[in-house]
Amino acid sequence: MEFRQLGRTDIKVTSICLGTMTWGEQNTEKQAHEQLDYAIERGINFIDTAEMYPVPANPKTQGRTESYIGTWIASRKNRDKYILASKVTGRAAIHWARDKEDQTRHTPAQIDEAVEKSLRRLQTDYIDLYQLHWPDRDMPGFGFHSYQDYDESDMTPLEDILGALNRHIEKGNIRHLGISNETPWGAMKFIQLAEKNNWPRMVSNQCVYNLIARRFDYGLAEVAMREQIGLLAYSPLGMGVLTGKYDDGEKPKGSRGSLFSDFMGGYWTAEDAWRDCNRTAIALGLTPTQFALKFVESREFLTSNIIGATSMAQLKENIDAHHITWTDEMEKEAHRLHKTYRCPVGR
Ligand SMILES: NC(=O)c1ccc[n+]([C@@H]2O[C@H](COP(=O)([O-])OP(=O)(O)OC[C@H]3O[C@@H](n4cnc5c(N)ncnc54)[C@H](OP(=O)(O)O)[C@@H]3O)[C@@H](O)[C@H]2O)c1
Repeated sequence: MEFRQLGRTDIKVTSICLGTMTWGEQNTEKQAHEQLDYAIERGINFIDTAEMYPVPANPKTQGRTESYIGTWIASRKNRDKYILASKVTGRAAIHWARDKEDQTRHTPAQIDEAVEKSLRRLQTDYIDLYQLHWPDRDMPGFGFHSYQDYDESDMTPLEDILGALNRHIEKGNIRHLGISNETPWGAMKFIQLAEKNNWPRMVSNQCVYNLIARRFDYGLAEVAMREQIGLLAYSPLGMGVLTGKYDDGEKPKGSRGSLFSDFMGGYWTAEDAWRDCNRTAIALGLTPTQFALKFVESREFLTSNIIGATSMAQLKENIDAHHITWTDEMEKEAHRLHKTYRCPVGR
């Protein structure tokens, strides 16, 4: 495994991180534990979860993913062997995650509630990396491209958010902070506030990134490089379309595409792009999965690539893809694909 520095911390994480958001929906507790054991055995030291998981968000299942990780943590007694990341839900009508509110927000009170509940479910005293899942402010996220000037008075001040998180760091509940689905403005604003108050800096930005969803290249990549807020890339396989499994026009039984077609949103309308990626991979002598995963892992601004799997065979294939050598020819093809299709998927 290859290790990369997490922001300006002294922590080194593996360039592959184990994603967990299918556990509790598509995957059972036993399968979750099997994936965790295998990933650790293969040398991965980074696990990503969220209070909201599994997906799609649902009152019946919310929190299950962290609970499954919690029972694993309690039984394996190896808490110092990995870096555990979780997230507090951004602005949404996910009222079931809170005792009283009808909307999840990043108010200090809600952050306190979310941290306490995650620690309990995870059966741990601390979370290594605590991330703001998406911004508190009203903004176009998850696939909406166009900017709108939303009302700033209806946003929790970033200083209040960072202050609340800092108090949890002081208590020892969390070690480091990260953002997710954040814009260059938000990332820079958090840095400014950290410097002004002598509070901790954000150490990473978790965003969508794959061969056909490359918005991170425009703005956020520069912030990542110059400010050491590296990318934690999610959906590196475009939720599955970059594996080739949908190339014959069918949605395989049990796949995300067949179970949660709407959740895959913009990937369906980017069919020309992903078909070309998958054909290109074969022509390069790779599987589509290898090409897609290694493309993400070979980005200079990447800290870690968050892989997700619903079976052990997928997990093995995805970890094995790390051993591919990224060549100039592959880079040339990735560039051609980007020039041809630009960013057909916003999320
Ligand atoms: N911060 C955020 O807003 C955010 C958003 C999304 C994800 N994430 C994080 O990123 C992680 C990964 O995201 P993702 O699941 O969207 O990643 P992805 O790699 O794009 O998609 C993973 C899905 O593709 C299918 N798959 C994976 N490997 C395969 C293989 N080798 N062959 C065929 N199919 C394969 C599986 O679904 P099926 O078997 O069901 O087809 C799997 O669940 C999540 O677990 C979560 O931790 C964060």
